[in-house]
Amino acid sequence: MATVVLSHELYKDGMAFLNSRVKTIVADSSHLDEKLSLMQEADAVILRVGTIKGELMKACPNLKVIARPGVGVDTVDVKSATELGIAVVISPGTNLRSVAEHAVGLLYALSKNVLESHLETSQGNFGIRNKYAAIELKGKRLGILGFGNIGREAAKIFKNNEMEISVYDPFVDQSTVEALGYTYEPSLSSMLPDCDVISLHMPLTPETRGMLGREQFGKMKKGLLLINCARGDVIDEDALFDALSSGHLAGAAVDVMKQEPMNRDNKLFTLNNFIATPHMAALTQEGASRTSLLTAEGVLAVLGKQDWPYVYNPEALKHPRWK
Ligand SMILES: NC(=O)c1ccc[n+]([C@@H]2O[C@H](COP(=O)([O-])OP(=O)(O)OC[C@H]3O[C@@H](n4cnc5c(N)ncnc54)[C@H](O)[C@@H]3O)[C@@H](O)[C@H]2O)c1
Repeated sequence: MATVVLSHELYKDGMAFLNSRVKTIVADSSHLDEKLSLMQEADAVILRVGTIKGELMKACPNLKVIARPGVGVDTVDVKSATELGIAVVISPGTNLRSVAEHAVGLLYALSKNVLESHLETSQGNFGIRNKYAAIELKGKRLGILGFGNIGREAAKIFKNNEMEISVYDPFVDQSTVEALGYTYEPSLSSMLPDCDVISLHMPLTPETRGMLGREQFGKMKKGLLLINCARGDVIDEDALFDALSSGHLAGAAVDVMKQEPMNRDNKLFTLNNFIATPHMAALTQEGASRTSLLTAEGVLAVLGKQDWPYVYNPEALKHPRWK
């Protein structure tokens, strides 16, 4: 019987699927390199949180599959995996609606000044209502960075909220964007000055790491609201703190930060125009059920040498160990 090690439990539906078919071991740790004896038993690993580097892969002779319940593979050393013949399995399309809705929810929380109003009201300050900090979203321009599955779904919901949509994605054709009634932006710098809101939906890559820093915040409209449901490392957090505390940005709401689990001492948490959620955008009951099942099915299909469409590095399957 195959052994599947999980960094953390999957949602109950995926867990039940696995438990009825393979031996599962839940490490309950983001540091799998500290769980070497467990890892050495693994035919497959499901990595929810944490990273897997090449050295750890080399120390695990049975390891043939690393699965990510999602599409982000920035936490896996894919190059080493491919060289070692380890398939990296992803689960695309299962959480796009959940993440898009989360971005919309965060924008409503920001634009209605929910956090500060709650904190003040709970202290007896009913007068916070007279700050007039809330704004309407209708007619405001929202910039989407990264027009993939989640960016498109988010754009659709924002558009249905009667917002104007601009898109920056260097890998998407102008005609695709315009056919949907959105404004195509040829560069990041052309988009920044026009937007009232920016919502981030690109992957973490060498190009997107630190993509929004001091220079980019300086080009944004005063009063802009920023949403990040992509990856923490795409934002320079020191520059964000300065932009929020000076009031140049009116608010930021993020589901992801540079350090996760989030560091409660991060100075961003001292601001009442900053909201963070714990990388939970995909973790709705519906999304988690779909993702956990597709991840579990993918792991077993690949271990069983069946064709599976969601292998991020199909070259790995050409390695002699799969013959
Ligand atoms: N918060 C969460 O829980 C959560 C859940 C799922 C995904 N995510 C993040 O969201 C990201 C997007 O997910 P998706 O399913 O839409 O992925 P996707 O691959 O469908 O779309 C990503 C899009 O970003 C674009 N892109 C790449 N480089 C870019 C750049 N330099 N500038 C602008 N756009 C660029 C790509 O062309 C693509 O269209 C993931 O990579 C992941 O990091 C977060």
